[in-house]
Amino acid sequence: MMKIDIDKDIRKAKTIPSKFYHNKKVYEKLKELFNKSWQFIGNTDFLEYNNVSPDILLEGMLDEPYVLTKTGKNIKCLSNVCTHRGNIVCEEACKTNNLVCGYHGRQFEIDGKMKFMPEFDEVKNFPSKDDDLPEISMEIWKNLIFVTNDKRCDLSELIGPMAERLDWMPVDEFECKPELSRTYKVNANWALYCDNYLEGFHIPYVHKDLNKELEYDEYYTEGMDNTVLQIGVGKDDETVFDLPKGHPDYGRNIVAYYFFLFPNMMFNFYPWGLSINVVKPKSSEYTEIDYFTYVWKEELMGKGAGGDLDKVELEDGEIVETVQKGVKSKAYDRGRYSPKREIGVHHFHLLLQKYYK
Ligand code: FES
Ligand SMILES: [Fe+2]
Repeated sequence: MMKIDIDKDIRKAKTIPSKFYHNKKVYEKLKELFNKSWQFIGNTDFLEYNNVSPDILLEGMLDEPYVLTKTGKNIKCLSNVCTHRGNIVCEEACKTNNLVCGYHGRQFEIDGKMKFMPEFDEVKNFPSKDDDLPEISMEIWKNLIFVTNDKRCDLSELIGPMAERLDWMPVDEFECKPELSRTYKVNANWALYCDNYLEGFHIPYVHKDLNKELEYDEYYTEGMDNTVLQIGVGKDDETVFDLPKGHPDYGRNIVAYYFFLFPNMMFNFYPWGLSINVVKPKSSEYTEIDYFTYVWKEELMGKGAGGDLDKVELEDGEIVETVQKGVKSKAYDRGRYSPKREIGVHHFHLLLQKYYK
């Protein structure tokens, strides 16, 4: 078994052993960690026209089939596995009065209650609660939906620092833009992708255009519980947040709040709106990143630090794929951190140490 020992003192610490980024057994073991994590799965608009919407939670890591359902204003997340012999019940998002399993015809109410089963008249103690579709823990912040397979803590514990700092933003009024949402594919381990996100150290080297927008010396990073906050400060007062008076950051030229929510989510707030990235581990050396785009002020799109996210993403993908080749080398195992520039990476590694058991 791999031992992670990261010194709490960043000045003494060594980075995570390189095996973490490519070993298949390590990858398998991460299932426990992800099982207990909260995962962003979309916003309540998903159920504006349809009242059922199925998907698979972290396919390639958790593989948990679920279906979001809505009765009246009540949204639930249910297991999408038939309680008879395990078929997937709901195949696609639609508007319907009940969920019907296509294998032997078991019917469920939209809230998951087993309603009808053919040829089961003689079955004793049937139906019972065990025949209903089990609920998956779900919580909503503003209009953003999060679920967890094995609840370890309330969502508020995870998103607390983000909710506190950005509560003034009308996130629930942002417009979800499916046409601007996309999936990026990277031939690298998911944690390597997160490491890269968690430092602005590489910006002058890897993102030359983005670097022109940012005041490098004012780039700020802070680790708080299960989150890391990075703040991008602009070179001038163009395309910055119009912060409310009394806000702790009032008066600063803030161009971006980058919130990392452990273990794999990135909530990037720009003056134009919000870009949510969910890093989906697919295998030990392949990752997909889902980008969800929510627009607040359309006229500010394409400007400032959040202007050309496609270009930044491609530059990140390229460097991370190169690093993946490096961390597999026999010659490399662990490096050291810059106490000034790699606070976020160090914090992430400490969290991996805490939860990877
Ligand atoms: S598996 Fe669903 S009815 Fe048999
Ligand atoms: Fe980057």
